[in-house]
Amino acid sequence: MLHALVGELVMKNTLFDLADRVYVVTGATGALAGSAADYLAGQGARVVYLGRSAEKVDAALAKCRAQTADAQCLGIVADVMQRDMLEQARDTILQKWGRIDGLLNGAGGNMPGATIAPGKDFSDLDFESFQQVVDLNLHGTVLPSLVFGPVMVEGGRGSIINYSSVSAPVVVTRVVGYSAAKAGVENFTRWLAVDMARRTEGKVRVNAVLPGFFLGEQNRRLLTNEDGSLTERGQLVVNQTPFGRFGQADELHGAIHYLLADASKFVTGSILPVDGGFVAFSGV
Ligand SMILES: NC(=O)c1ccc[n+]([C@@H]2O[C@H](COP(=O)([O-])OP(=O)(O)OC[C@H]3O[C@@H](n4cnc5c(N)ncnc54)[C@H](O)[C@@H]3O)[C@@H](O)[C@H]2O)c1
Repeated sequence: MLHALVGELVMKNTLFDLADRVYVVTGATGALAGSAADYLAGQGARVVYLGRSAEKVDAALAKCRAQTADAQCLGIVADVMQRDMLEQARDTILQKWGRIDGLLNGAGGNMPGATIAPGKDFSDLDFESFQQVVDLNLHGTVLPSLVFGPVMVEGGRGSIINYSSVSAPVVVTRVVGYSAAKAGVENFTRWLAVDMARRTEGKVRVNAVLPGFFLGEQNRRLLTNEDGSLTERGQLVVNQTPFGRFGQADELHGAIHYLLADASKFVTGSILPVDGGFVAFSGV
């Protein structure tokens, strides 16, 4: 009996074990990162829900606790572009859980002003909005990495996951600012991956997921009409997606789980598309 139990323990597959690991999720009040945070908590991880609005953080925490009675979740209000708030968040997490094993840089998104409106062209670009969208998506990825990354280096283990977009590797018309920001995020992902790999002998890894088109509050009115039918642009997106549909938030969970877990321990600097084939397809 004891022999069998020891055998079972030795055989336990730990490749995908996330139990009790501490993950910080920025933008955890949003659609994709929020869904990932809930998923990680459901896997037994200790999850920090970091968001800008206290009300939304509270709502996200309530959802986390409702899904599993013993869910380990902590809510922190912080702006990813405010270094002092992130440093306070880091100290709070270390006080509570003593370490950080991973970071999902989920805060981000497009802004209408940084997009060329129908009938307008590049010369009409609102440069201030362009700067804001780069600030949020690029600087809002760099700063949390700068604050939480050293904790992972010191702890001897870590996985950072950034969020890219199909508009980084291929051109999505009108979306000029967000695309530039996400292209920057991809480059930064590879840059930090190399830096961390060399400094930690591969113990801290940096990768990105590249979600295709997922319906959310930000893009719903752009892609679907009030009755749920596709807009002209929504139809173009679906035509370019070999799966013939938009993604669903839970379809990112597997990629995130893999990139955080030991299953990907020799993987760094990768950009993993989860896009129903969008970037692979020439459209012909
Ligand atoms: N939804 C998609 O189709 C899609 C596709 C590709 C990439 N992405 C990327 O995935 C990530 C998550 O997207 P989403 O659809 O969940 O977006 P979302 O808008 O639902 O969530 C983003 C969250 O970030 C928070 N946030 C914004 N600014 C912040 C700041 N300064 N500090 C802290 N939090 C802040 C918002 O409050 C929001 O809760 C983003 O980086 C987005 O660009 C989304």
